[in-house]
Amino acid sequence: MAEKDKYAVFGNPIKHSKSPLIHGLFAEQCAQQMQYRAVRVELDGFALAAQRFFDSGGAGLNITVPFKQDAFRFAHRLSDRAMRAGAVNTLSRAEDGAIEGDNTDGIGLVRDMIANLGWAVQGLRVLVLGAGGAARGALEPLLRERPRELLVVNRTPARASQLATEFSDIAPLEGGAYDLIGERQFDLIINATSAGLSGEMPELPSSLLTERSCCYDMVYGAEPTPFMRWSAHHAAWAVADGLGMLVEQAAQSFYIWRQVRPETRPVINQLRGALDAA
Ligand code: ATR
Repeated sequence: MAEKDKYAVFGNPIKHSKSPLIHGLFAEQCAQQMQYRAVRVELDGFALAAQRFFDSGGAGLNITVPFKQDAFRFAHRLSDRAMRAGAVNTLSRAEDGAIEGDNTDGIGLVRDMIANLGWAVQGLRVLVLGAGGAARGALEPLLRERPRELLVVNRTPARASQLATEFSDIAPLEGGAYDLIGERQFDLIINATSAGLSGEMPELPSSLLTERSCCYDMVYGAEPTPFMRWSAHHAAWAVADGLGMLVEQAAQSFYIWRQVRPETRPVINQLRGALDAA
């Protein structure tokens, strides 16, 4: 039997990564001969581990916390998206042997909202909470959908104003402190903070939502996050977590590596079923 093409996800911690399951399901669905493993990499050992992986014939890597910036530095060439995001979650070897870095997180978010959830971005008032890596990765794909306005707010306001400056050549956007929300209302609110991981959420004015507002939390879990609970309590029209984004970013990586686009719906459904049963 021909040797399978080798892929892996590098992270630390990595035990709970769903990527091997997702890519295994994609490979089966698309009849691709590939293996995909999760690898825990020492915190100071990313470049060495990645070099060894590619030297030994590895075909592609996903990169997760905390190595996305290391992968950005490791890549020989970067896509425009990765350059903007300042982070790489997908590495692949090009025909000429160079290692190419891409970032599929933001595309995954936008595709989940538009294709899976049926939400629009175009022409809407969009609010992004947080200005860390997750927000940065989302901004370009969001701005390319041409929202009517986009405001990024952050606990450390300077990080949000910095993002607004960096992305303003794509489309106008504002960035700063949570105070900037004031009494304004938004149609789409995206929580890109990591506050939910510690059971918290940023404080938001109760006037923020309209009856048509959609609220998306990039985090997911068996239980709704504090932001999702807040949104439901304030009568959001729709509320979603980031499980679909996780599967969509994986699908985009899979496409980069294999030039085949897997169907994501059955995989999202299977993961959701497993979460609900947990
Ligand atoms: P990630 O890669 O997940 O985006 P990050 O780059 O560390 O991680 O960014 C975390 C984001 O969540 C930041 O915007 C952070 O705000 P600060 O820039 O002020 O640190 C935000 N965040 C984390 N905990 C928060 C909390 N309890 N309330 C509000 N914002 C929070």
